[in-house]
Amino acid sequence: MSKKTVRDIDVQGKKVLVRCDFNVPMDENKNITDNRRIVAALDTIKYLLENNSKIILCSHLGRPKGEVNPKYSLLPVAKELSRLLGKEVKLAKDVVGEDATNLTNNMAEGDIVLLENVRFEAGEEKNDEELSKKFASFAEVYVNDAFGTAHRAHSSTTGVASYLPAVSGFLIEKELKFLGSSLENPERPFVAILGGAKVSDKIGVIDSLLEKVDTLIIGGGMAYTFFKSMGYQVGNSLCELDKLDLAKSLMEKAEAKGVKLMLPIDNKVGKEFSNDTESKFVNSTEIPADWEGLDIGPKTIEMYAEELRNAKTVVWNGPLGAFEMEQFANGTNSIAKILSEVDATTIVGGGDSAAAVEKAGLASKFTHISTGGGASLEFLEGKKLPGIEALLEK
Ligand code: 3PG
Repeated sequence: MSKKTVRDIDVQGKKVLVRCDFNVPMDENKNITDNRRIVAALDTIKYLLENNSKIILCSHLGRPKGEVNPKYSLLPVAKELSRLLGKEVKLAKDVVGEDATNLTNNMAEGDIVLLENVRFEAGEEKNDEELSKKFASFAEVYVNDAFGTAHRAHSSTTGVASYLPAVSGFLIEKELKFLGSSLENPERPFVAILGGAKVSDKIGVIDSLLEKVDTLIIGGGMAYTFFKSMGYQVGNSLCELDKLDLAKSLMEKAEAKGVKLMLPIDNKVGKEFSNDTESKFVNSTEIPADWEGLDIGPKTIEMYAEELRNAKTVVWNGPLGAFEMEQFANGTNSIAKILSEVDATTIVGGGDSAAAVEKAGLASKFTHISTGGGASLEFLEGKKLPGIEALLEK
């Protein structure tokens, strides 16, 4: 699956529509609290600037559900982009209306226009043909660099690609390299760490990784469903009772494939799901009734660290405990720290684990941190992402 990139097409002086994923978190005063996705789009934008293109950027922000809602305006993104590029990025007042049409009709080489939030248009999420054609009418080339939204078949991610020569930007190229080819032929031992609350969210990815890895390390809330399926008591821990057979079958599959499946041996349990609750460490076979498992314990961290120190390729998706609470963040933070020190290719599959690595200030010590949440999970599951499928083959 090799897709053409912006390098494989003539963009010199041309009008280029670039779909980015500028869906960034903001505080109540509209300050961007994590600009990683904007920074990740800069390589493609700078390349187009070097080629004197007329650059039309577009993205969604949040879920305004087809209605104009100032709360989801891309204005803070336009400001941040202008700051990062040291160059004015004009924000259109609409997506494909009069202002967007005027601005995109009157561009000089090297100008940058950002369309308003594409999800202000009711047709966007329906992959509406008319809207897709309207997007296409603005430009001569379409570049998709929105990896985080590549799992959505929307007008600006997929539909538009039917009406223009469509290639990937450098971010999508990089994501495909690290989440795709580098995991197809990994240097071994290859270890996957999967955390998060529910087994049901990760069935596809566990199933797919069991075909590839040497070791699968489990943490987070989903570990308790595995414990329950083994007949342990899990107290008030998160547990999906309707997924016990599934957990069992995943363990059987691991055994049949010769994959070492590792579960926590000790846990930090709390009386309640709160940061200031009473807590203690217990072995996994001894979780008391009325307590809930909220993080992995020190013996588990040491056991996992030993495995990770021997690994040559590691992919990580999902926190190992309720890391949003300081008291239960140690497991996730410790794994981030260990991975930042190992001599291996280390890939973080986006979402909460990426946020944890960022928060710990360790991002630069990882080989790759995906900008995708749902998209990277679907990609790791082996699903085809419509935003990528729509691009021209090399
Ligand atoms: C994300 O944040 O995962 C992407 O921007 C996709 O957003 P969505 O889930 O609203 O489609």
